[in-house]
Amino acid sequence: MLDKVIAIAREAGEIIRDGFGKNFLVEYKTNVSNLVTEIDKKSEAKIIEFVKKEFPGHSILAEESGRHDSSNEYLWIIDPLDGTTNFAHGLPIFSVSIGIQKNNELICGVVYDVMRDAMYATEKGGGAFCNDRKLHVSINDDIKKSVLVTGFPYNVHDNPDFAYERFVAFLKTAGAIRRLGSAAIDMCYVAEGVFDGFWEVSLNAWDMAAGKLIVEEAGGIVTDFEGRPMDVFQKQILATNGKVHEIMIDTLRIS
Ligand code: IPD
Ligand code: CA
Ligand code: CA
Repeated sequence: MLDKVIAIAREAGEIIRDGFGKNFLVEYKTNVSNLVTEIDKKSEAKIIEFVKKEFPGHSILAEESGRHDSSNEYLWIIDPLDGTTNFAHGLPIFSVSIGIQKNNELICGVVYDVMRDAMYATEKGGGAFCNDRKLHVSINDDIKKSVLVTGFPYNVHDNPDFAYERFVAFLKTAGAIRRLGSAAIDMCYVAEGVFDGFWEVSLNAWDMAAGKLIVEEAGGIVTDFEGRPMDVFQKQILATNGKVHEIMIDTLRIS
């Protein structure tokens, strides 16, 4: 199955790469910060066509078209273009993210970082890889030396879940903070040991499904802000190398 998921992520990535920097239709979703392009939709249509042909009957949850066939034990959770704002503005940081659950457990995850041609892939219990290179989280346990990454929801101006306060708290404690604009890539960089930790206050299942399993299979820990196991249908995520997890939970605690 993993080989097929990799193949379709690559095909979707080719559609995105071909569209990058060209003219494409842009529409707004919930507000003027929340874009969708015709390339997001083309990528998604390609992946869905593939799933329906290769795995007929499997359920699908895809960002732009929602639920398809929702009763199968297999569920494909698809973000056809993670990092749409970057893509639409010409910043080459965006990905295709596909996570697969069987009976509500993640079994497979693929994130394709399109412009770096970096294919992050994992199967439960089999380790995580980037283009066949095995991934390991970092070993840093000192928050003052840590490099962390985060992102913000499209309604950040309403400050959901104390997004501002939590960001400021990390500005005061971490070594450095980055905001790349693709949650799936953020998590792959945690798996790769580039970043020590990632948090975000409000994500959707398609942003996190593949990345969660990739971080776990690289030896990292993924929980909610209280340190409890999280599933990808919850909003909050904390994904770390394990060593800075507790201190990040302390920092996320807003009293
Ligand atoms: C967004 C990106 C971003 C994150 C946002 C997501 P999209 O996904 O992952 O990094 O901060 O919360 O919505 O809209 O580009 O698929
Ligand atoms: Ca996304
Ligand atoms: Ca998207």
